[in-house]
Amino acid sequence: MRCHLCGTILKKYIDLHQQPLANSLLSSPDEQDKVWYSAVWAWCPSCELLQLIDVPPAEVVYTASYPYKSSQSQFMNDHFRKTAQYLYDLYHLGNGKVIEIAVNTGGIIQFLSCTVLGFEPAQACRPDLNSKGIPFHGDVFNNLSARATSSVWGQADLVYCANTLRSLKDLREIFESVLLVLKEDGVFVIEDPYLVNILDRNEWDQFYSENVYGFTVTSMQHIARRYGMELIAVDPLPDNHGGSLRYHMARKGARPVGHIEMMKGMNDEAAIPDKLATFQQVIDDISTKFTVALSQLKRDGKRVVGYGATAKAVTLLNYANIGPDLIECIYDTTAEKWNKFIPGIKIPILSADKFDEDDAHTVILFAYNHRREILSRENKKRQRRWLVYHPGVMYVTD
Ligand code: TYD
Repeated sequence: MRCHLCGTILKKYIDLHQQPLANSLLSSPDEQDKVWYSAVWAWCPSCELLQLIDVPPAEVVYTASYPYKSSQSQFMNDHFRKTAQYLYDLYHLGNGKVIEIAVNTGGIIQFLSCTVLGFEPAQACRPDLNSKGIPFHGDVFNNLSARATSSVWGQADLVYCANTLRSLKDLREIFESVLLVLKEDGVFVIEDPYLVNILDRNEWDQFYSENVYGFTVTSMQHIARRYGMELIAVDPLPDNHGGSLRYHMARKGARPVGHIEMMKGMNDEAAIPDKLATFQQVIDDISTKFTVALSQLKRDGKRVVGYGATAKAVTLLNYANIGPDLIECIYDTTAEKWNKFIPGIKIPILSADKFDEDDAHTVILFAYNHRREILSRENKKRQRRWLVYHPGVMYVTD
């Protein structure tokens, strides 16, 4: 059990048992999950980096039917629009070039007027990228595709990667590839959920196979240093995916470094190992309370459904062993998920169009990271009883 980056012996902290792949939805309740992995996260004391030990191979996770689309959220679309403008102004991108890794359905580059190129291997995203006229490379971003890009397309002033770096086990390959396509004074901007927020908000369902790493300012500094770069700025993104950070990196010495140490201190990153030491207890408490609450609703004859067939939900439901007997179905706006079943515990996923007609007593808000957007819209149609499971199990109204 050694660190994926430096080989130091790891300390195990979080064990969510065997889990199916969170985005490998089943076509029928009789289908068996093909891949299970051991959901154990451990801490590297040298890199100060939390990491999944047994990482399923990328080719089994990101298949042709991989259903995730960032465009399902108006909030994320707005976020990408604002981020595009912010980075365009900050780094004077007028005549510049921008690459986005894992651009999904358009990311920030759909809003940039300069020269852009996306990388997106997921086939489900291709129609969206084509219809928006976004130039993209259909391969994964790696040494080979980066080398080809740098010789044919050239080098970028900015490489951007949102909500993906944490999924990529081989950070060495990514950083080496970024350096191939980045100009000497170019900037690599990364957005990902902040481990401090995940732990403080008890968001343990964020621990699934696509979240290989739990990043912090400190661990990003270690990673940057390892690959000849340095962290030059950090922006808080409190409303993104349960609380994220935006990290700006450049080649060492290429750009001035901002006030980064303050951010580490303010968030007490040094206390992470202590928090991890008690986190399994938090997980077990929430899991038990959630199961007890659902069992009570069932005994009282109340119907319960879910909203948002998130990857996060898969972790929670499988760990707590909650199936369709306790949660009848989960509604979702993503067409690719409709009439499929949650891996492992096999709860059916239905079109969100049908949610309006459903008068269930309680709705579990699995897409809690879109809480404001979903509740403000849905409560106008029908006042619901929304149940969330962190920081603890409770009903919320807005
Ligand atoms: P996401 O936030 O990406 O979570 P995860 O990374 O854990 O999968 O996914 C949100 C899910 O919720 C996605 O399947 C789309 C769905 N969704 C709705 O059904 N309605 C909505 O209004 C929003 C914003 C999302």
